[in-house]
Amino acid sequence: MTAQTAKLRVLPPDLKPEYLPKHVAVICDGNGRWAKRRGLPRIMGHKQGVEALKAALRTCNDWGISALTAYAFSTENWKRPQEEVDFLMSLFQVVLRQELREMIKENVRIKFAGDLEALPSSLQKQIYAAMEETKDNPGIQFTVATNYGGRQEILSACRAIASQVEQGLLKADEIDEDVFERHLYTVGVSDPDLLIRTSGEMRISNFLLWQIAYTEIYVTDTLWPDFDRDEFHRALSSYQQRDRRFGKI
Ligand code: FPP
Repeated sequence: MTAQTAKLRVLPPDLKPEYLPKHVAVICDGNGRWAKRRGLPRIMGHKQGVEALKAALRTCNDWGISALTAYAFSTENWKRPQEEVDFLMSLFQVVLRQELREMIKENVRIKFAGDLEALPSSLQKQIYAAMEETKDNPGIQFTVATNYGGRQEILSACRAIASQVEQGLLKADEIDEDVFERHLYTVGVSDPDLLIRTSGEMRISNFLLWQIAYTEIYVTDTLWPDFDRDEFHRALSSYQQRDRRFGKI
């Protein structure tokens, strides 16, 4: 490692380590537009999006952010052209195959959040194996929201809880936030402190609807493949200027 790269890996001096978000969630938007602007097919944008995601994970690791969640594929994304859906499914497999060893070396704990049963069975196998193999790793929690939809997640939690009530395992008045959270795809992962959305859209797009109740939101016009360390720095600077009151005064 050169002195220059070593310097890049250190938290920029204007950021206060004690006020860093513990968990950052990202809506990785703009891959298609990034490709279009370069006269490339959309899939090249997704490929470059993976590079940006790897860089974001590295930045979190270097700067002491302990969890990163990325919106990789929403329940609505199945409506894209079949060719693009197929490409994304095979991209997830290729990336998992290529990066898993490195993530294990870096102690990353990887989790996939979403309705995983609808994914191709070969991908499911890889996902469950990766989650099992990394579940006790002490490093960064990396959650990939795949076939994820916030409303679907809440409905599926409701169904599971209702079924417990039907079976007499739980009383209705015992349902509280803790019980509910145990039935979400994100069980075991803290709520995000900061949500970053790239490419300028001011929408939540069905992402982590329950979990972002008190999350700070940062939107940048930068397209996801261009979201680099400097962009991350800007998002964190903005976050550190916020006054988080959680409903208090
Ligand atoms: C949104 O951009 C992006 C996606 C639907 C895919 C995001 C996927 C990645 C970043 C890769 C993640 C990979 C792994 C293995 C975790 P868009 O296509 O909606 O862009 P547009 O709004 O410009 O059309």
